[in-house]
Amino acid sequence: MRPELTLPTGHASSPTDRRLNALLRHLSSSSSSSSSAMDTNNSISPSPTSAFQHDSVFSHVVQAPEDPILGVTVAYNKDPSPVKLNLGVGAYRTEEGKPLVLNVVRKAEQQLVNDRARVKEYLPIIGLAEFNKLSAKLIFGADSPAIQENRVTTVQCLSGTGSLRVGAEFLAKHYHQRTIYVPLPTWGNHPKVFTLAGLSVKTYRYYDPATRGLNFQGLLEDLGSAPAGAIVLLHACAHNPTGVDPTLQQWEQIRQLMRSKKLLPFFDSAYQGFASGSLDADAQSVRMFVADGGECLAAQSYAKNMGLYGERVGALSIVCKTADVAGKVESQLKLVIRPMYSNPPIHGASIVAAILRDRNLYSEWTIELKAMADRIISMRHQLCDALRARGTPGDWSHIIKQIGMFTFTGLNSKQVTFMTKEYHIYMTSDGRISMAGLSSKTVPHLADAIHAAVTRVV
Ligand SMILES: Cc1ncc(COP(=O)(O)O)c(C=O)c1O
Repeated sequence: MRPELTLPTGHASSPTDRRLNALLRHLSSSSSSSSSAMDTNNSISPSPTSAFQHDSVFSHVVQAPEDPILGVTVAYNKDPSPVKLNLGVGAYRTEEGKPLVLNVVRKAEQQLVNDRARVKEYLPIIGLAEFNKLSAKLIFGADSPAIQENRVTTVQCLSGTGSLRVGAEFLAKHYHQRTIYVPLPTWGNHPKVFTLAGLSVKTYRYYDPATRGLNFQGLLEDLGSAPAGAIVLLHACAHNPTGVDPTLQQWEQIRQLMRSKKLLPFFDSAYQGFASGSLDADAQSVRMFVADGGECLAAQSYAKNMGLYGERVGALSIVCKTADVAGKVESQLKLVIRPMYSNPPIHGASIVAAILRDRNLYSEWTIELKAMADRIISMRHQLCDALRARGTPGDWSHIIKQIGMFTFTGLNSKQVTFMTKEYHIYMTSDGRISMAGLSSKTVPHLADAIHAAVTRVV
C-alpha cells in the first residue's frame, strides 16, 4: 500500500476537529514558508501610524499555487501564440475548437423561459424532487429493485464535486470507518475534497506505467489488505486521468472482493455516456454493485454528459439496505447540506429534469451525447495514426485502448514542459491530454510536438 496521500487525522475525534487540524497543518506550513515575506513587510513599516495605514491584516497571507488542472488554462490564456492548444481542462470542444451547448439543452431552456408559471423560489434542502428521482433512474437503471423498494436516497448537489463532498461529510459524521482508498493516480481534487471533509485518504494501486493499462493484481492486493469496512472510491467509467477502466469480468472480481471484505463502494460517475457513448453501458459497474443488494454511494455529474459545466448540477445517491434506513440517512444529509450552502440552484436541475422526463428530448440527448463520444474516439484514432505515420518511437496503441475524455500519454513532466515551451501545447504535468480539446486540424501539430518531445527530451 502506498502512503503518499495519507493525511493522518491525529488524535482529534470529531470531523470538525479533524478539519481544523488539516487546516492548521496547512496554515503552519504556509506561515513558515512566508516568514521572509513577513519580515520584508515589517521592515517597510517604520511607525505605528504608517503600519496602520499600509499594513493589511492579511499581509501574512502567502500567494497560493494555481490549481494544477485549472492553472493550465490560466497559463494558456496568457500565451499570445496563434497556434496554442489547451488540452488541460476536461471540457468538450467542437471540431472548430468551440465550447458546445447541446441543442437539447437549448430546447429545454426555451421551455423553461416560456413557462410563465415558473418562479425563482428556493428549492428544498435536498433539491428538486423530480430531478433526484430521474437521476437515480439514470444511474441505477429504470428497473432497479433498490429504487422500487425505496432504498435509495438522492439529493441534488453542486455538480460532481459537491456530491462527493456532501457524501464524504456524511460518512465522516455517521460511518464507522473514516479511511477512504482512492486509486493511484486519481483526479487531483479527490484527496483534497475527502481530507477536508474529515476522511483519511489512502491509495490503492491502479495504473501500471509499464503496460499503460490496469494494475489489476496490485489493485486486488491493496483492496484485499485494506481494513474491513474501509471506503473505496471507484471511478464508475472513463477513469480520470488514465482512461483505463476494468473490464466487466474484472469489475465482478472487484465486487466480490469488496463485498467479502465489507468495503464500502463510493462511485464517482462524472462521465456516464462519455466513455462508450451509451448511458447504460457506462453505468454497468455501479449497477453490478447495486444488484447484489449491498450498500453504496454514487456521485453523479451532468457537467460533461449534458455540457452543463457551469450550471453545477449533480446528485448524490446513497443506496441502503431498507427504506427505513434510507429515510434516516436523508434526514442527516439535510443537516450536512443546510449549513454548507442551504439549498442547491434551481436552473441546471430544471434543465436536466426537462430532458430526462420527456421521451423525445431524452432520445435527442442520447444522440448528441453519442456524437460527442464518437468524436473523441475518432480523435484517438487520428492521433495514433499520425504518430505511427511519423514513426514516433514507442507503442501508441494505448491512445486507442484508453477510454473517455483523457489519454494518459506516458509523456514525462520534462517532455510536457518542452511541448508547452516549443509548441504552445498546454496539458497537466502528468502527461494527461484531453482528447475532447483536439480536432482534425490540431492533431498534426500535437503529433509533431509529441514526436519532437519523445525524440529530443528524455
Ligand atoms: C473524476 C471526476 N470526478 C468529479 C469531477 C467533478 O466535476 P464537476 O464538479 O464539474 O461535476 C470531475 C471533473 O473533472 C472528474 O474528472
